Amino acid sequence: MKDKTLVKGKIHYVGVNDRNKHLFEGMWPLPYGVSYNSYLIADDIVALIDTVDACYFEPYLHKIKSILGDRPVQYLVVNHMEPDHSGSIRLIKQEYPDIVIVGNKQTFGMIEGYYGVTGERYVVSDGDFLDLGHHRLRFYLTPMVHWPETMMTFDEADGVLFAGDGFGCFGTLDGGFLDTRINADRYWDEMVRYYSNIVGKYGNPVQKALAKLGGLDIKAICSTHGPVWTENIGRVVGIYDRLSRYEAEPGVVIAYGSMYGHTEQMAEAIAAELSAQGVRDVVMHNVSKSHASYILRDIFKYRGLIVGSPTYCNQMYPEVASLLDKILLREVKGRFFGYFGSFTWAGAAVKRMGEFAEKSKFELVGDPVEMKQAMCPVDYEHCENLARAMAARLKA
Ligand code: FEO
Repeated sequence: MKDKTLVKGKIHYVGVNDRNKHLFEGMWPLPYGVSYNSYLIADDIVALIDTVDACYFEPYLHKIKSILGDRPVQYLVVNHMEPDHSGSIRLIKQEYPDIVIVGNKQTFGMIEGYYGVTGERYVVSDGDFLDLGHHRLRFYLTPMVHWPETMMTFDEADGVLFAGDGFGCFGTLDGGFLDTRINADRYWDEMVRYYSNIVGKYGNPVQKALAKLGGLDIKAICSTHGPVWTENIGRVVGIYDRLSRYEAEPGVVIAYGSMYGHTEQMAEAIAAELSAQGVRDVVMHNVSKSHASYILRDIFKYRGLIVGSPTYCNQMYPEVASLLDKILLREVKGRFFGYFGSFTWAGAAVKRMGEFAEKSKFELVGDPVEMKQAMCPVDYEHCENLARAMAARLKA
């Protein structure tokens, strides 16, 4: 059992997999599930790093006891209080009543508020330290990655970073948890989707955290979601660095709503011309079918964004409006933006998308295209002009 859970030194993986939940945070699809990672350091002094969703407490405790037997856990380090990680704090406290909870001054109000747990605590500030014997833990406050109390814990003995949500991704751990023992390729897209959906608003705090951790000699990244990264550390940090800078590849996302196919024909005309102009990465999403989770992932991935909407009740199509709200919420930066729309008797969608363009501060590319009722030759021409402008901007 112990060999199967060993990360490094005396650090063990004791996380669990959730293949039951459909929507993370009640919003984001989980086609490949999600893991809630916790780590047990069975040193001279025993410490647990974060817990798991309370639904999985029984198998979680079994894993801990399989390693520790009757030894108690002396410290619980709480890097992050979102309930997918803090959910078992009350039950752990019941199991180990003398446990000392380690957190920062933002953490303990949340522990009391969520779980009514009080008792002995170690309130850490940036750079504080906890010696376990072989392993030596240093605490780094990394607020807003992804809540205000978030911090990361670095084991200076073996170079292991317990990163909270940082460097996390969707997807369960099917068998192995170490990147050296799995096919890591299944996680890259789910890492981008996780970042864009969950952490996407907090680009600046992620950048600050990366700067703070930049000098550390990191040999393993233990996130609260997804594999333990050892041989892919450069790639993982690079993904989080690029995404938090809102850097993107030279492709185009076309996201559109369409009730009877006319606005979709505009999208098709734009996509075909983009391809003719040499843009290889064109990703199309019908907002009524693609979940916003995947559209956001692709918007974080690609530099160009073209949005299309029919007019509906004198507004944008509601699903398009909802997507644009989600983009604004995440404060996505640095996109080339074009838009098009349609109407039957009075146009409104194109005007509303113009308001979004101003709010987003995206660089407007090409002329917005507005079509009445059905496509005419001149509408094809306008759509193609928009596509040419986008292709030219991407090439520049
Ligand atoms: Fe996985 Fe912000 O919790």
